[in-house]
Amino acid sequence: MSALLTSFPTLSAEEAAALINDGDTIGFSGFTPAGAAKVIPKALAARARAEHEAGRPFKVAVVTGASTGDSLDGALAQADAISWRTPYQSNKYLRQSINAGKTRFFDMHLSQLPQNVRYGFLGPFRWAIVEAADVTAAGEILLTTSVGATPTFCRVADKILIELNRFHPRDLRGLHDIYEPADPPRRREIPIYRPDDRIGSTVVKVDPSKIAGIIDNNQADESGGFEPADDTTRTIGLNVASFLAAELKAGRIPSEFLPIQSGVGNIANAVLGALGDHPDIPPFQMYSEVIQDSVIGLMETEKITFATATSLTLSAESLQQVYGNLPFFRPRIMLRPQEITNNPEIVRRLGIVSVNTAIEVDLFGNVNSTHVMGKSLMNGIGGSGDFTRNAYISIFTCPSVAKGGKISTLVPLVSHLDHSEHSVQAIITEQGIADLRGKSPNERARLIVNNCAHPDFRDELLGYFEMTRDGHTPQTLANAFKMHQQFLATGDMRGAIWS
Ligand code: COA
Repeated sequence: MSALLTSFPTLSAEEAAALINDGDTIGFSGFTPAGAAKVIPKALAARARAEHEAGRPFKVAVVTGASTGDSLDGALAQADAISWRTPYQSNKYLRQSINAGKTRFFDMHLSQLPQNVRYGFLGPFRWAIVEAADVTAAGEILLTTSVGATPTFCRVADKILIELNRFHPRDLRGLHDIYEPADPPRRREIPIYRPDDRIGSTVVKVDPSKIAGIIDNNQADESGGFEPADDTTRTIGLNVASFLAAELKAGRIPSEFLPIQSGVGNIANAVLGALGDHPDIPPFQMYSEVIQDSVIGLMETEKITFATATSLTLSAESLQQVYGNLPFFRPRIMLRPQEITNNPEIVRRLGIVSVNTAIEVDLFGNVNSTHVMGKSLMNGIGGSGDFTRNAYISIFTCPSVAKGGKISTLVPLVSHLDHSEHSVQAIITEQGIADLRGKSPNERARLIVNNCAHPDFRDELLGYFEMTRDGHTPQTLANAFKMHQQFLATGDMRGAIWS
């Protein structure tokens, strides 16, 4: 039975928004714009504006799988309607609000969000607002293009509102694998031994009496496409592919290869493209957080044989490719909750090779993924920590310079720390590869400067650590942030003078 035949109240988005009160905590579906609630958040933003105009306070706490689309984070941030937000975001209006101190944000490892919600660490949840492709009278919810933390939001929330989005076909059934681990002290191992092991249900099962209403709509996901690879991203991709091909040849990666986790964005897209094109890399599987456009193309050429993730973050064209040929893609794609895709136990067991992007890396291999100049939040740590800390090989990529060459992404000391030198094994830029395994801080610094730094910054960086003659790690505290300070003062890191 589908929603049309059920007895749940049918509400307009405005009627649904009117049920929500100032101060409520809401768990929204969505992991990237994929599968994010869309129509209720927009109506909620309008309601917040009206309340503010009438002189009344109106803000809600927004918890999601990860980032969302313009209709959710964008609309609510512009309406100044978010009191606090976790675990990740990438919206420019919300970023401004966070960096201006108007919205409280806490940055979390994405694998930990669902269990922290269940443990009660984030307080009570009044609502789960969930996009679905279908819902039955028995309370079986068929999700759309992401799973994220939705099963947990539905479990803990007092009430559930369902955005029944007709854009997504009902024959998505079979794409999802919904599994929630028991909480300590009753948790057992998660029984995934291969990326394609199915362990859960195809739908989220909820108590139907919690469903407060269905909001019928037909809205495409708000996921954008990707820039075509440029010389820099293409070279980074080629460097990652050659590094992994060499690992395979050396026997440090088994001949059947290992599952790949790849971050989100243009570099990640170029890395996957390069892995796909490399003649020495065999067909492989993905155990990742997000499936993006390049994966779909590589599935069609059978270079990627299977991909599991928590989100299908595709451009409109790629999503149509999948929906147009579901019998081909359904057995090759599996969407799971983020606490399963990003789970440290599984990442370590399967031997995942992780590839994520850094904002800056220091000479010893510490990585900053989240903050510009130590203080302004970009997006958040996302799943990068979940994978990096537990990967078989953990790789960070970035262009060697940012902002037209005025910023070196390789710096003496990171201005914010997300991934420590103990978790990071290789740094790859368009300049080359620094394999940090088994290297002391002194050796790391030389490798990173000589292999990865932009030529405009090499002498400056070599000069930095050659000043220090004692200690295990060649660090001079008085100079460690000179490049950053110079950028803040002049808008250019080049030519920093060490004292
Ligand atoms: N200093 C200042 N700005 C910098 C910078 C630096 N060292 N390095 C990058 N930037 C800026 C870029 O100039 C760009 O700015 P713009 O938006 O104004 O053009 C912006 O940061 C994004 O950089 P870009 O090179 O376009 O890379 P990206 O889109 O791939 O994003 C991260 C890079 C690190 C911000 C992004 O990957 C991220 O949020 N990572 C953390 C979460 C994560 O890893 N998720 C995947 C886990 S599964």
